[in-house]
Amino acid sequence: MHRFLECPNILFLNLPSSSISQLESGIPGDFKTSCVGVTFRNELILGQDSFNIYRCSTSLGLQLEEMRGESMKGVVFTEFIEMVEKEFGVHIAEDVISSSELDSGGAYTSVGTYSHQEMLSLIENLSRKTKIDHGDLIKSFGNYLHRQFEIKYKDFFEDQDCFGFIKSIDSYIHKEVKKLYTDAELPKFEHHEPNSKTLQVTYSSSRPFADLAEGMFKRTLEYFDEGVEMSVVESSKDSSHSRQFSFKKA
Ligand code: HEM
Repeated sequence: MHRFLECPNILFLNLPSSSISQLESGIPGDFKTSCVGVTFRNELILGQDSFNIYRCSTSLGLQLEEMRGESMKGVVFTEFIEMVEKEFGVHIAEDVISSSELDSGGAYTSVGTYSHQEMLSLIENLSRKTKIDHGDLIKSFGNYLHRQFEIKYKDFFEDQDCFGFIKSIDSYIHKEVKKLYTDAELPKFEHHEPNSKTLQVTYSSSRPFADLAEGMFKRTLEYFDEGVEMSVVESSKDSSHSRQFSFKKA
């Protein structure tokens, strides 16, 4: 028998009942849970009701981790390697590739699909070699990737203002990306506009790239140059899989 869990971050999971019995607190029969976050690599918060927070045991967390959206489009890898070559040199790029654990061997094509663990491994090794903080490297990559998209996907930036563009990432841009690369697994950006000067956006993804989103957003603000300021909303849910941003017009 399989139990169905609906998880926006992990998409849809069918878990065998044997795994469910490993949950630290049993989930009531009629409770359909949502995955609200990850506490650390091998523990997942599945959801909560008024009484309980449903948390996976470590071993089940690891199993779930393996079932998460693993793949990442090659375009992200090719842009990353290009950035490393331009900013740190070809030798560093080669070094980083050869010292990382890469099933693909580091030969990426933009239309291919690779495990996002390879990206994490590349970043980790680049950070070790350059002594630049891991998060800072991902954020600068976000800046670089955005600049590349400005050139390669001009249409998405035309006839847009800053807020309009940010709102269109989820509702339009990534939908078009999905048509182009049907196997792409894109993050979610939910937005809320409490007034005409404020836009709140929550990033969530099965992959841990909140820093990439932050770096990209920072560049979005530079690109539109409308004096919009961004802050990260402090929250217990903040993690590399989920982050809330607040944008304010002057
Ligand atoms: C011109 C616009 C854009 C294009 C063409 C584009 C395209 C893509 C593509 C192809 C991927 C890889 C999907 C996969 O691995 O399966 C991706 C991932 C991603 N995009 Fe976009 N994107 C655009 C704008 C943005 C902007 C402005 C943000 C701002 C935050 C953003 C945030 C992300 C993030 C964080 C990921 C990594 C995947 C994840 O977190 O799960 N994108 N995008």
